[in-house]
Amino acid sequence: MSKFIIVGQKPLNGEISVGGAKNAALKIIPAALLSSSEVIVHNVPKIEDVNRALELFADLGGKINRQADKLVLSMKNFNKTTLEPAFANKLRASIMFVAPLLARSGEVKFPHPGGCVIGAGLRPIDLFIDGFKAMGAEVKFSDGYYHLTAKRLKGCNYFFTIVSVTSTECFIMAATLAEGTTTLKNCAMEPEIVALAEHLNKCGARITGAGTSTITIEGVDKITGGEVTVIPDRIEAGTFAILAAVTRSALMIKNCRPDHLDSLLTIFKKLNIEFETGVDYLKIKKVPEIIKAYNLKTHEYPGFPTDLQSPFTVLMTQATGTSLIHETIYDRRLLFTDMLTQMGANITMCDPHRVVIQGPTPLRGRSLTSPDLRAGISMIIAGAIASGHTEIDNIYQIERGYEKIDERLKKIGLDISRVD
Ligand code: EPZ
Repeated sequence: MSKFIIVGQKPLNGEISVGGAKNAALKIIPAALLSSSEVIVHNVPKIEDVNRALELFADLGGKINRQADKLVLSMKNFNKTTLEPAFANKLRASIMFVAPLLARSGEVKFPHPGGCVIGAGLRPIDLFIDGFKAMGAEVKFSDGYYHLTAKRLKGCNYFFTIVSVTSTECFIMAATLAEGTTTLKNCAMEPEIVALAEHLNKCGARITGAGTSTITIEGVDKITGGEVTVIPDRIEAGTFAILAAVTRSALMIKNCRPDHLDSLLTIFKKLNIEFETGVDYLKIKKVPEIIKAYNLKTHEYPGFPTDLQSPFTVLMTQATGTSLIHETIYDRRLLFTDMLTQMGANITMCDPHRVVIQGPTPLRGRSLTSPDLRAGISMIIAGAIASGHTEIDNIYQIERGYEKIDERLKKIGLDISRVD
Protein backbone atom coordinates (compact mmCIF):
# COMPACT_ATOMS: atom_id res chain seq x y z
CA MET A 1 0.00 0.00 0.00
CA SER A 2 1.36 3.45 -0.90
CA LYS A 3 1.97 6.12 1.67
CA PHE A 4 2.97 9.77 1.91
CA ILE A 5 5.91 10.95 4.03
CA ILE A 6 5.88 14.59 5.08
CA VAL A 7 8.69 16.56 6.69
CA GLY A 8 7.01 19.48 8.39
CA GLN A 9 7.68 23.05 9.42
CA LYS A 10 8.78 24.36 6.00
CA PRO A 11 7.17 27.59 4.71
CA LEU A 12 4.89 27.26 1.71
CA ASN A 13 4.36 29.82 -1.04
CA GLY A 14 3.50 30.28 -4.68
CA GLU A 15 0.35 29.36 -6.52
CA ILE A 16 -1.80 26.27 -6.82
CA SER A 17 -4.70 25.55 -9.19
CA VAL A 18 -8.03 24.03 -8.21
CA GLY A 19 -9.46 21.16 -10.25
CA GLY A 20 -13.03 20.26 -11.20
CA ALA A 21 -15.38 19.48 -8.32
CA LYS A 22 -15.56 15.80 -7.31
CA ASN A 23 -19.12 16.25 -6.02
CA ALA A 24 -20.23 17.84 -9.30
CA ALA A 25 -18.49 15.37 -11.66
CA LEU A 26 -19.97 12.41 -9.75
CA LYS A 27 -23.47 13.67 -10.68
CA ILE A 28 -22.76 14.76 -14.28
CA ILE A 29 -21.46 11.27 -15.19
CA PRO A 30 -24.61 9.32 -14.13
CA ALA A 31 -26.80 12.12 -15.55
CA ALA A 32 -25.48 11.07 -18.99
CA LEU A 33 -27.65 7.95 -18.59
CA LEU A 34 -30.76 10.15 -18.97
CA SER A 35 -30.16 10.53 -22.72
CA SER A 36 -28.99 8.25 -25.55
CA SER A 37 -27.00 11.14 -27.05
CA GLU A 38 -23.42 12.17 -26.37
CA VAL A 39 -22.47 14.25 -23.34
CA ILE A 40 -19.13 16.08 -23.46
CA VAL A 41 -17.68 16.93 -20.04
CA HIS A 42 -14.75 19.32 -19.51
CA ASN A 43 -12.56 19.96 -16.43
CA VAL A 44 -13.04 16.41 -15.11
CA PRO A 45 -10.81 15.76 -12.06
CA LYS A 46 -8.51 12.73 -12.42
CA ILE A 47 -9.42 11.20 -9.09
CA GLU A 48 -10.21 7.67 -7.94
CA ASP A 49 -13.91 8.31 -7.28
CA VAL A 50 -14.34 9.47 -10.89
CA ASN A 51 -12.56 6.32 -12.06
CA ARG A 52 -14.99 4.19 -10.04
CA ALA A 53 -17.99 6.07 -11.48
CA LEU A 54 -16.68 5.58 -15.02
CA GLU A 55 -16.16 1.85 -14.36
CA LEU A 56 -19.82 1.66 -13.29
CA PHE A 57 -20.89 3.65 -16.38
CA ALA A 58 -18.96 1.28 -18.67
CA ASP A 59 -20.26 -1.81 -16.87
CA LEU A 60 -23.82 -0.68 -17.60
CA GLY A 61 -22.96 -0.45 -21.30
CA GLY A 62 -21.82 3.17 -21.57
CA LYS A 63 -19.23 4.31 -24.11
CA ILE A 64 -16.41 6.49 -22.72
CA ASN A 65 -13.85 8.45 -24.71
CA ARG A 66 -11.35 10.11 -22.37
CA GLN A 67 -9.01 12.85 -23.64
CA ALA A 68 -6.82 14.96 -21.28
CA ASP A 69 -9.44 16.43 -18.90
CA LYS A 70 -12.34 16.00 -21.34
CA LEU A 71 -14.77 13.09 -21.35
CA VAL A 72 -17.19 12.05 -24.11
CA LEU A 73 -19.93 9.85 -22.68
CA SER A 74 -22.82 8.05 -24.37
CA MET A 75 -25.29 5.44 -23.26
CA LYS A 76 -27.23 4.24 -26.31
CA ASN A 77 -28.47 0.98 -24.76
CA PHE A 78 -28.04 -0.54 -21.33
CA ASN A 79 -26.16 -3.86 -21.03
CA LYS A 80 -27.82 -4.42 -17.69
CA THR A 81 -29.87 -2.63 -15.04
CA THR A 82 -27.96 -3.90 -11.99
CA LEU A 83 -25.27 -1.89 -10.19
CA GLU A 84 -22.56 -4.45 -9.42
CA PRO A 85 -21.36 -4.39 -5.77
CA ALA A 86 -17.76 -4.46 -7.01
CA PHE A 87 -18.28 -0.84 -8.07
CA ALA A 88 -21.23 0.30 -5.97
CA ASN A 89 -19.70 -0.72 -2.62
CA LYS A 90 -16.75 1.57 -3.20
CA LEU A 91 -18.71 4.72 -3.94
CA ARG A 92 -21.51 6.54 -2.05
CA ALA A 93 -22.23 8.34 -5.31
CA SER A 94 -23.11 5.02 -6.98
CA ILE A 95 -26.63 5.81 -5.75
CA MET A 96 -26.67 8.65 -8.32
CA PHE A 97 -26.99 5.99 -11.07
CA VAL A 98 -30.31 4.69 -9.69
CA ALA A 99 -32.68 7.47 -10.81
CA PRO A 100 -31.46 7.83 -14.45
CA LEU A 101 -31.33 4.03 -14.88
CA LEU A 102 -34.87 3.60 -13.49
CA ALA A 103 -36.21 6.63 -15.40
CA ARG A 104 -34.90 5.36 -18.75
CA SER A 105 -35.16 1.56 -18.40
CA GLY A 106 -38.03 1.14 -15.89
CA GLU A 107 -35.94 -1.09 -13.63
CA VAL A 108 -32.85 -1.05 -11.41
CA LYS A 109 -31.21 -3.34 -8.85
CA PHE A 110 -28.54 -2.03 -6.51
CA PRO A 111 -26.77 -2.84 -3.24
CA HIS A 112 -26.49 -0.34 -0.38
CA PRO A 113 -23.91 2.22 -1.56
CA GLY A 114 -20.42 2.37 0.05
CA GLY A 115 -18.11 5.39 0.45
CA CYS A 116 -16.67 7.29 3.46
CA VAL A 117 -17.45 5.73 6.87
CA ILE A 118 -18.40 9.07 8.45
CA GLY A 119 -21.94 8.30 9.60
CA ALA A 120 -23.21 5.62 12.02
CA GLY A 121 -23.30 2.17 10.38
CA LEU A 122 -24.19 2.32 6.69
CA ARG A 123 -25.09 5.88 5.68
CA PRO A 124 -28.91 5.67 5.37
CA ILE A 125 -30.80 5.90 2.03
CA ASP A 126 -34.36 6.13 3.42
CA LEU A 127 -34.89 9.50 1.69
CA PHE A 128 -34.20 7.80 -1.65
CA ILE A 129 -36.46 4.80 -1.03
CA ASP A 130 -39.34 6.99 0.23
CA GLY A 131 -38.94 9.33 -2.74
CA PHE A 132 -39.10 6.55 -5.32
CA LYS A 133 -42.19 5.14 -3.61
CA ALA A 134 -43.75 8.63 -3.74
CA MET A 135 -43.05 8.68 -7.50
CA GLY A 136 -44.91 5.38 -7.91
CA ALA A 137 -42.01 2.95 -8.11
CA GLU A 138 -42.40 -0.55 -6.71
CA VAL A 139 -39.62 -1.18 -4.18
CA LYS A 140 -38.45 -4.63 -3.06
CA PHE A 141 -35.40 -5.64 -1.01
CA SER A 142 -33.95 -9.19 -1.15
CA ASP A 143 -30.56 -10.92 -1.17
CA GLY A 144 -28.81 -7.65 -0.37
CA TYR A 145 -30.32 -5.80 -3.30
CA TYR A 146 -32.92 -3.06 -3.61
CA HIS A 147 -35.05 -3.81 -6.68
CA LEU A 148 -37.03 -0.87 -8.09
CA THR A 149 -39.45 -1.03 -11.02
CA ALA A 150 -41.65 1.63 -12.63
CA LYS A 151 -43.17 1.71 -16.14
CA ARG A 152 -42.78 5.52 -15.89
CA LEU A 153 -42.15 7.52 -12.71
CA LYS A 154 -44.93 9.94 -11.78
CA GLY A 155 -44.52 13.56 -10.69
CA CYS A 156 -45.28 14.18 -6.99
CA ASN A 157 -44.80 16.58 -4.09
CA TYR A 158 -41.92 15.36 -1.95
CA PHE A 159 -40.62 16.91 1.28
CA PHE A 160 -37.12 15.91 2.40
CA THR A 161 -37.25 15.25 6.15
CA ILE A 162 -33.49 15.87 6.21
CA VAL A 163 -31.66 18.28 3.88
CA SER A 164 -29.67 15.92 1.66
CA VAL A 165 -27.40 16.76 -1.29
CA THR A 166 -27.47 13.51 -3.24
CA SER A 167 -31.20 12.90 -2.55
CA THR A 168 -32.02 16.34 -3.96
CA GLU A 169 -29.87 15.61 -7.04
CA CYS A 170 -31.36 12.11 -7.37
CA PHE A 171 -34.95 13.38 -7.55
CA ILE A 172 -34.07 16.23 -9.89
CA MET A 173 -32.89 13.50 -12.29
CA ALA A 174 -35.84 11.14 -11.56
CA ALA A 175 -38.39 13.91 -12.12
CA THR A 176 -36.75 15.11 -15.37
CA LEU A 177 -38.24 12.16 -17.33
CA ALA A 178 -41.28 11.58 -15.09
CA GLU A 179 -44.91 12.02 -16.06
CA GLY A 180 -46.19 15.40 -14.83
CA THR A 181 -44.72 17.90 -12.40
CA THR A 182 -42.66 17.24 -9.28
CA THR A 183 -42.20 19.71 -6.43
CA LEU A 184 -39.31 19.02 -4.07
CA LYS A 185 -39.28 20.83 -0.72
CA ASN A 186 -36.57 21.31 1.96
CA CYS A 187 -33.96 20.73 -0.74
CA ALA A 188 -30.21 21.09 -0.36
CA MET A 189 -28.83 24.24 -2.08
CA GLU A 190 -25.20 23.35 -2.84
CA PRO A 191 -23.53 24.86 -5.96
CA GLU A 192 -23.08 21.34 -7.36
CA ILE A 193 -26.90 20.98 -7.40
CA VAL A 194 -27.27 24.25 -9.32
CA ALA A 195 -24.60 23.09 -11.79
CA LEU A 196 -26.43 19.79 -12.38
CA ALA A 197 -29.78 21.54 -12.96
CA GLU A 198 -28.21 24.08 -15.34
CA HIS A 199 -26.61 21.27 -17.36
CA LEU A 200 -29.86 19.25 -17.56
CA ASN A 201 -31.84 22.35 -18.56
CA LYS A 202 -29.40 22.92 -21.42
CA CYS A 203 -30.22 19.33 -22.48
CA GLY A 204 -33.95 20.04 -22.54
CA ALA A 205 -35.05 19.45 -18.93
CA ARG A 206 -37.46 21.89 -17.20
CA ILE A 207 -36.04 22.48 -13.73
CA THR A 208 -36.65 25.68 -11.75
CA GLY A 209 -35.57 26.71 -8.27
CA ALA A 210 -32.23 24.84 -7.98
CA GLY A 211 -30.16 26.61 -5.33
CA THR A 212 -33.29 27.30 -3.26
CA SER A 213 -35.16 25.00 -0.84
CA THR A 214 -38.02 24.41 -3.31
CA ILE A 215 -37.34 22.91 -6.74
CA THR A 216 -39.99 22.28 -9.41
CA ILE A 217 -39.43 19.90 -12.31
CA GLU A 218 -41.81 19.53 -15.23
CA GLY A 219 -41.25 16.06 -16.64
CA VAL A 220 -40.38 15.70 -20.34
CA ASP A 221 -40.46 12.63 -22.59
CA LYS A 222 -36.75 12.80 -23.34
CA ILE A 223 -33.70 15.04 -23.19
CA THR A 224 -30.71 15.45 -25.50
CA GLY A 225 -26.98 15.24 -24.81
CA GLY A 226 -24.89 18.35 -24.33
CA GLU A 227 -21.59 19.91 -23.33
CA VAL A 228 -20.71 20.93 -19.78
CA THR A 229 -17.71 22.16 -17.79
CA VAL A 230 -17.40 20.86 -14.23
CA ILE A 231 -17.40 23.75 -11.71
CA PRO A 232 -14.24 24.29 -9.61
CA ASP A 233 -13.97 22.25 -6.41
CA ARG A 234 -14.87 24.62 -3.55
CA ILE A 235 -13.80 22.03 -0.98
CA GLU A 236 -10.35 21.72 -2.58
CA ALA A 237 -10.04 25.54 -2.70
CA GLY A 238 -11.08 25.79 0.96
CA THR A 239 -8.65 23.03 1.91
CA PHE A 240 -5.73 24.89 0.30
CA ALA A 241 -6.78 28.15 2.00
CA ILE A 242 -6.78 26.43 5.40
CA LEU A 243 -3.37 24.85 4.62
CA ALA A 244 -2.02 28.36 3.98
CA ALA A 245 -3.54 29.60 7.27
CA VAL A 246 -2.19 26.68 9.33
CA THR A 247 1.33 27.10 7.87
CA ARG A 248 1.03 30.89 8.02
CA SER A 249 1.89 31.06 4.31
CA ALA A 250 0.98 33.46 1.51
CA LEU A 251 -0.65 31.42 -1.25
CA MET A 252 -2.40 32.14 -4.57
CA ILE A 253 -5.27 29.70 -5.18
CA LYS A 254 -6.30 29.87 -8.84
CA ASN A 255 -9.25 28.58 -10.94
CA CYS A 256 -11.59 28.59 -7.97
CA ARG A 257 -14.96 30.26 -7.13
CA PRO A 258 -14.47 32.35 -3.97
CA ASP A 259 -18.19 33.16 -4.08
CA HIS A 260 -18.80 29.49 -3.13
CA LEU A 261 -16.68 29.94 0.03
CA ASP A 262 -18.50 32.76 1.82
CA SER A 263 -18.78 30.82 5.09
CA LEU A 264 -15.02 30.09 5.31
CA LEU A 265 -13.94 33.57 4.18
CA THR A 266 -16.29 35.24 6.67
CA ILE A 267 -14.59 33.25 9.45
CA PHE A 268 -11.14 34.14 8.05
CA LYS A 269 -12.09 37.80 8.41
CA LYS A 270 -13.03 37.20 12.06
CA LEU A 271 -9.63 35.51 12.57
CA ASN A 272 -7.81 38.49 10.97
CA ILE A 273 -6.50 36.32 8.14
CA GLU A 274 -5.89 38.74 5.26
CA PHE A 275 -6.93 37.62 1.79
CA GLU A 276 -7.92 38.99 -1.58
CA THR A 277 -10.42 37.53 -4.02
CA GLY A 278 -11.21 37.88 -7.69
CA VAL A 279 -13.77 36.10 -9.89
CA ASP A 280 -11.60 33.00 -10.13
CA TYR A 281 -8.88 33.36 -7.52
CA LEU A 282 -8.33 33.53 -3.76
CA LYS A 283 -5.05 34.95 -2.48
CA ILE A 284 -4.13 34.29 1.16
CA LYS A 285 -1.90 37.27 1.96
CA LYS A 286 -1.11 37.42 5.67
CA VAL A 287 -1.90 35.18 8.60
CA PRO A 288 -1.55 36.63 12.13
CA GLU A 289 1.00 35.06 14.52
CA ILE A 290 -1.81 34.58 17.02
CA ILE A 291 -4.85 32.86 15.48
CA LYS A 292 -7.92 33.33 17.64
CA ALA A 293 -9.92 30.31 18.79
CA TYR A 294 -13.31 29.94 17.08
CA ASN A 295 -16.48 27.94 17.74
CA LEU A 296 -17.43 26.23 14.48
CA LYS A 297 -20.76 24.65 13.57
CA THR A 298 -21.08 22.80 10.28
CA HIS A 299 -24.27 23.36 8.31
CA GLU A 300 -25.86 22.72 4.94
CA TYR A 301 -24.86 25.19 2.18
CA PRO A 302 -24.43 28.15 2.36
CA GLY A 303 -23.38 27.36 5.92
CA PHE A 304 -19.92 25.95 6.75
CA PRO A 305 -19.38 22.71 4.79
CA THR A 306 -18.83 19.52 6.76
CA ASP A 307 -16.20 18.58 4.12
CA LEU A 308 -13.99 21.44 5.39
CA GLN A 309 -14.53 20.60 9.06
CA SER A 310 -11.52 18.26 9.38
CA PRO A 311 -9.02 20.75 7.87
CA PHE A 312 -10.50 23.56 10.01
CA THR A 313 -10.17 21.37 13.12
CA VAL A 314 -6.43 21.11 12.46
CA LEU A 315 -6.27 24.93 12.22
CA MET A 316 -7.97 25.24 15.61
CA THR A 317 -5.27 23.05 17.24
CA GLN A 318 -2.96 26.01 16.50
CA ALA A 319 -5.38 28.71 17.65
CA THR A 320 -4.93 30.46 20.98
CA GLY A 321 -7.75 29.61 23.39
CA THR A 322 -10.67 27.17 23.50
CA SER A 323 -12.59 26.20 20.33
CA LEU A 324 -15.73 24.07 20.05
CA ILE A 325 -16.18 22.11 16.82
CA HIS A 326 -19.82 21.08 16.34
CA GLU A 327 -20.19 18.61 13.46
CA THR A 328 -23.95 18.58 12.80
CA ILE A 329 -24.11 16.51 9.59
CA TYR A 330 -22.29 13.27 10.44
CA ASP A 331 -21.69 11.49 13.75
CA ARG A 332 -18.40 9.80 12.88
CA ARG A 333 -16.56 12.67 11.27
CA LEU A 334 -14.73 13.70 14.43
CA LEU A 335 -13.24 10.30 15.20
CA PHE A 336 -10.05 11.26 13.32
CA THR A 337 -9.27 13.82 16.08
CA ASP A 338 -7.92 10.92 18.08
CA MET A 339 -4.96 10.85 15.69
CA LEU A 340 -4.41 14.60 16.11
CA THR A 341 -4.31 14.00 19.86
CA GLN A 342 -1.64 11.35 19.30
CA MET A 343 0.33 14.05 17.44
CA GLY A 344 0.11 16.33 20.47
CA ALA A 345 -3.16 18.24 20.00
CA ASN A 346 -5.28 18.92 23.09
CA ILE A 347 -8.74 17.72 22.03
CA THR A 348 -11.59 16.43 24.19
CA MET A 349 -14.50 14.60 22.56
CA CYS A 350 -17.73 15.66 24.30
CA ASP A 351 -20.03 13.49 22.17
CA PRO A 352 -20.07 12.10 18.60
CA HIS A 353 -20.89 15.58 17.27
CA ARG A 354 -18.69 17.84 19.44
CA VAL A 355 -15.04 18.26 20.39
CA VAL A 356 -13.36 20.98 22.46
CA ILE A 357 -9.84 22.05 21.48
CA GLN A 358 -7.35 23.86 23.71
CA GLY A 359 -4.62 25.57 21.72
CA PRO A 360 -2.05 26.16 20.58
CA THR A 361 -0.04 22.96 21.08
CA PRO A 362 2.95 21.83 18.99
CA LEU A 363 2.35 18.75 16.83
CA ARG A 364 4.83 15.87 16.45
CA GLY A 365 5.08 13.75 13.30
CA ARG A 366 4.04 10.08 13.56
CA SER A 367 2.59 7.18 11.51
CA LEU A 368 -1.08 7.57 10.67
CA THR A 369 -3.66 5.72 8.56
CA SER A 370 -6.13 7.77 6.53
CA PRO A 371 -9.67 6.58 7.51
CA ASP A 372 -11.46 8.65 4.85
CA LEU A 373 -10.99 11.41 2.28
CA ARG A 374 -11.23 14.62 4.33
CA ALA A 375 -9.56 13.21 7.45
CA GLY A 376 -6.75 12.07 5.14
CA ILE A 377 -6.09 15.51 3.69
CA SER A 378 -6.20 16.94 7.24
CA MET A 379 -3.34 14.63 8.20
CA ILE A 380 -1.27 16.12 5.38
CA ILE A 381 -2.08 19.59 6.79
CA ALA A 382 -1.12 18.46 10.32
CA GLY A 383 2.07 16.90 8.94
CA ALA A 384 2.96 20.24 7.30
CA ILE A 385 3.30 21.89 10.74
CA ALA A 386 4.46 18.90 12.81
CA SER A 387 8.06 18.42 13.91
CA GLY A 388 9.80 15.46 12.34
CA HIS A 389 8.30 12.98 9.85
CA THR A 390 4.62 12.18 9.38
CA GLU A 391 3.79 8.97 7.51
CA ILE A 392 0.27 8.57 6.13
CA ASP A 393 -0.93 5.16 5.05
CA ASN A 394 -3.98 4.15 2.97
CA ILE A 395 -3.57 7.23 0.73
CA TYR A 396 -6.10 5.75 -1.71
CA GLN A 397 -8.64 7.49 0.51
CA ILE A 398 -6.99 10.86 -0.23
CA GLU A 399 -6.59 10.15 -3.95
CA ARG A 400 -10.30 9.43 -4.11
CA GLY A 401 -10.85 13.19 -4.07
CA TYR A 402 -7.59 15.06 -4.65
CA GLU A 403 -5.79 14.80 -7.99
CA LYS A 404 -1.96 14.28 -7.85
CA ILE A 405 -1.99 15.98 -4.45
CA ASP A 406 1.65 15.22 -3.58
CA GLU A 407 3.01 16.69 -6.85
CA ARG A 408 0.88 19.84 -6.52
CA LEU A 409 1.78 20.46 -2.88
CA LYS A 410 5.46 19.83 -3.59
CA LYS A 411 5.31 22.70 -6.10
CA ILE A 412 4.31 25.14 -3.32
CA GLY A 413 7.13 23.94 -1.07
CA LEU A 414 5.66 21.09 0.99
CA ASP A 415 8.27 18.41 1.69
CA ILE A 416 6.07 15.46 0.75
CA SER A 417 7.13 12.20 -0.90
CA ARG A 418 5.19 9.20 -2.03
CA VAL A 419 6.45 5.71 -1.15
CA ASP A 420 4.92 2.89 -3.17
C1 EPZ B 1 -22.88 14.73 -0.14
O1 EPZ B 1 -23.12 13.47 0.50
C2 EPZ B 1 -21.40 14.73 -0.47
N1 EPZ B 1 -21.09 13.60 -1.31
C3 EPZ B 1 -20.59 14.63 0.82
O2 EPZ B 1 -19.22 14.75 0.49
C4 EPZ B 1 -20.95 15.75 1.75
O3 EPZ B 1 -20.32 15.56 2.98
C5 EPZ B 1 -22.49 15.77 1.98
O4 EPZ B 1 -23.19 15.81 0.73
C6 EPZ B 1 -22.94 16.96 2.81
O5 EPZ B 1 -22.53 18.14 2.23
C7 EPZ B 1 -21.38 13.66 -2.65
O6 EPZ B 1 -21.91 14.62 -3.16
C8 EPZ B 1 -20.99 12.46 -3.45
P1 EPZ B 1 -26.33 14.09 2.61
P2 EPZ B 1 -24.58 12.92 0.78
O7 EPZ B 1 -27.34 13.16 2.09
O8 EPZ B 1 -25.52 13.49 -0.21
C9 EPZ B 1 -28.52 11.92 6.19
C10 EPZ B 1 -16.93 14.25 0.58
O9 EPZ B 1 -16.11 14.25 1.51
N2 EPZ B 1 -29.30 11.11 5.24
O10 EPZ B 1 -26.46 15.53 2.28
O11 EPZ B 1 -24.49 11.47 0.93
C11 EPZ B 1 -27.03 11.58 6.19
O12 EPZ B 1 -26.76 10.45 6.98
C12 EPZ B 1 -18.33 13.66 0.78
O13 EPZ B 1 -16.72 14.72 -0.56
C13 EPZ B 1 -30.31 10.30 5.74
O14 EPZ B 1 -30.55 10.25 6.95
O15 EPZ B 1 -24.89 13.59 2.18
C14 EPZ B 1 -26.41 12.86 6.76
O16 EPZ B 1 -26.46 12.82 8.16
C15 EPZ B 1 -18.49 13.02 2.12
N3 EPZ B 1 -31.04 9.55 4.86
C16 EPZ B 1 -27.37 13.93 6.22
O17 EPZ B 1 -28.54 13.26 5.76
C17 EPZ B 1 -30.80 9.57 3.51
O18 EPZ B 1 -31.49 8.87 2.74
C18 EPZ B 1 -26.81 14.74 5.06
O19 EPZ B 1 -26.20 13.87 4.19
C19 EPZ B 1 -29.76 10.40 3.01
C20 EPZ B 1 -29.02 11.16 3.90
